This record gives sequence, structure tokens and C-alpha cells, in this order.
Amino acid sequence: MRMCSLNKIANLIKNYIFATCCVTLLSTSKCQGISNMSITMPAAVASGESVKMTCTYNLGTDPLYTVKWYKGSKEFFRYVPKELPHTRVFPWPGINVDVSQSGPNQVVLRDVQRYLSDKYRCEVSADAPSFHTKIVSAWLHVVYPPIGRPILSLEKRHYTIGDKLKGNCTSPPSSPPSNVTWYLNDKWMNSSFARSLDDDYEIGRGHKMRTTTVGLELEVNSFRVGKMRIRCVADLYGVFRTSTETILDEEKPRLASILSTFSSSPNDDEVLDEKCSVK
Ligand SMILES: *[C@@H]1O[C@H](CO)[C@@H](O)[C@H](O)[C@H]1NC(C)=O
Ligand SMILES: *[C@@H]1O[C@H](CO)[C@@H](O)[C@H](O)[C@H]1NC(C)=O
Ligand SMILES: *[C@@H]1O[C@H](CO)[C@@H](O)[C@H](O)[C@H]1NC(C)=O
Ligand SMILES: *[C@@H]1O[C@H](CO)[C@@H](O)[C@H](O)[C@H]1NC(C)=O
Repeated sequence: MRMCSLNKIANLIKNYIFATCCVTLLSTSKCQGISNMSITMPAAVASGESVKMTCTYNLGTDPLYTVKWYKGSKEFFRYVPKELPHTRVFPWPGINVDVSQSGPNQVVLRDVQRYLSDKYRCEVSADAPSFHTKIVSAWLHVVYPPIGRPILSLEKRHYTIGDKLKGNCTSPPSSPPSNVTWYLNDKWMNSSFARSLDDDYEIGRGHKMRTTTVGLELEVNSFRVGKMRIRCVADLYGVFRTSTETILDEEKPRLASILSTFSSSPNDDEVLDEKCSVK
């Protein structure tokens, strides 16, 4: 009698261990489900353009059940291999899916507008036995890209060690406004030297576009072979990037100054004008 119940308990334990092992085994091998999932799309795209969003994943041994695409919380596209047709589009204002180019791994939106800027999600579900679901997301910014280049304005063009260098850089109009950063001889000038001055707007290509001006102020203490290379970069999400650069001279002693004036030809000035929009 006692022997029997002990056996029962032993069996229970055995079953428990077996079940646990099985689950562990399944989760490390067969039940691995969806892995290596990622979403790829440009961080920014110009209004009116098409955009391709790619979703890659590894299903392991599981069959695919669905791939769903969301803008924010709104589902706009679904791929279901078991259904015919495999694709389904959910109509939302402004979302224009190019079905012919959309499938299990990508969706293409045509003629995107500013208000489509949002967080986009790709949700993949596996069929039996795992029924795993995994989500990845990324931001898409629909922009009015910059028109032209940043405009530099510097207080003066010749400096000696110890001088204060003061200048402003105004981003080309874009929407949203571009980020403006300054570089001196390729070194980024952080917020101790650069300061946001003002924001403005203008109409460009029929849209309200915004400019932003950042001032630079530093004490001149290093010349690279008597020259300082000043660069201002206007950047929109790392996708639209323009810059303006100018080279400033170290003020020479009187004799050298005459010599350098003598040697500078009108040609040199043209080259400088071409390189930057300093006025
Ligand atoms: C995940 O991707 C990496 C690189 O693309 C690859 O080396 C690796 O084998 C993949 N893992 C799985 C489980 O598919
Ligand atoms: C930079 O902008 C400020 C504010 O608009 C202005 O007062 C200053 O004169 C400008 N400096 C240069 C060098 O353009
Ligand atoms: C800016 O850079 C200077 C020199 O490279 C450094 O000394 C300073 O701590 C930095 N300031 C900020 C706010 O990062
Ligand atoms: C500007 O820079 C900030 C900080 O790096 C970043 O979060 C933001 O997205 C940038 N904005 C644009 C319009 O590029």
C-alpha cells in the first residue's frame, strides 16, 4: 500500500519533470518561433514620394499565419497566405497602398503626405503549433525637404588669436525645421559655442516652410596653417543634409598682408563664392 502511493508520487514527479523538460526542449528548439525580426524604412521621405517599408523575420519551422501593418494603432495592410487574395487593404484617408508591390515582407505607400508621419508597426504571427506573434516598429517622417543651402553670415573674415569669432547660420527652409550644427576644422561645436537665436517661416513650393538660425561665438585660439574652416550643416533626420563652408584667414602682419593681397587674384574670390554663400 505504502509502496504503491510512493510509486504514484514518483510517477507524478517523473511526469512533472518530463513535462518541464518538454517545454524547455520545445522552447529552445521546435518552439523557437519568430526570430531575427526587423523593420527597415527611411527615417524621412519627401511629401508626394513613395516609401517602401520592409519587414524581415525568420519563422523557423512554423508556417506564416499573418503579417499586419499599422500606422499608429490603425491597421492598413494585411498579408494572409491562407486567404485569397493574400492581401487586404484597410482604407484610411491618405494611406495609398501599392498592392502590386506589397507582400509578405514589404508594403509600399504611394504619394505620402505630411500627416502620414507616424510610428509604423509590422506584426507577424506564426500558425500552429507556436501561434507566436512579434512586433517591430519604426518612425517615418514625411517632410518638405530643404530648399537650398544654409546661409552663413560672419562678423568679419580676418582674425588674430584671441579675437571673438561671431557668426550666424540660417537653415534652408524645410518642414519641420532642420537641425543646425557648426563645425570648426571638422570639430563639432557644442552648445557652449552654438546658440539657437530665432525661428522664422517662409512660403516655399507653395508650403509653409521653417528656418532656424543658430549663432556661433568662440574665441579664436587655433589656426590650421593660418586658416580656419567653418562649416554649418543643416540636417533633417539624417536623410536631407546640406552644408555651407567658408575658410577664414589669420590676420597677417602688415608686410605679409600686403603680400597676400598681392597674391590673391579675382579667381580665388570666385572659388570662395562658389563654395559658400557668405555675403
Ligand atoms: C539572424 O541573423 C543573423 C545575421 O543576419 C544570422 O547570422 C543568424 O543566423 C540569424 N539567426 C536566426 C535564428 O535566423
Ligand atoms: C546674428 O543674429 C543676431 C540676432 O538676429 C543679430 O543680432 C546679429 O547681428 C547677427 N550676427 C551676424 C554676424 O550676422
Ligand atoms: C563643449 O566642448 C568643450 C570643448 O570641446 C568642452 O570643454 C565643454 O565641456 C563642452 N560643453 C558641453 C556643454 O558639452
Ligand atoms: C534634431 O536632433 C535631435 C537630437 O539629435 C533629434 O532627436 C531630432 O530628430 C532631430 N530633428 C531633425 C528634424 O532632424
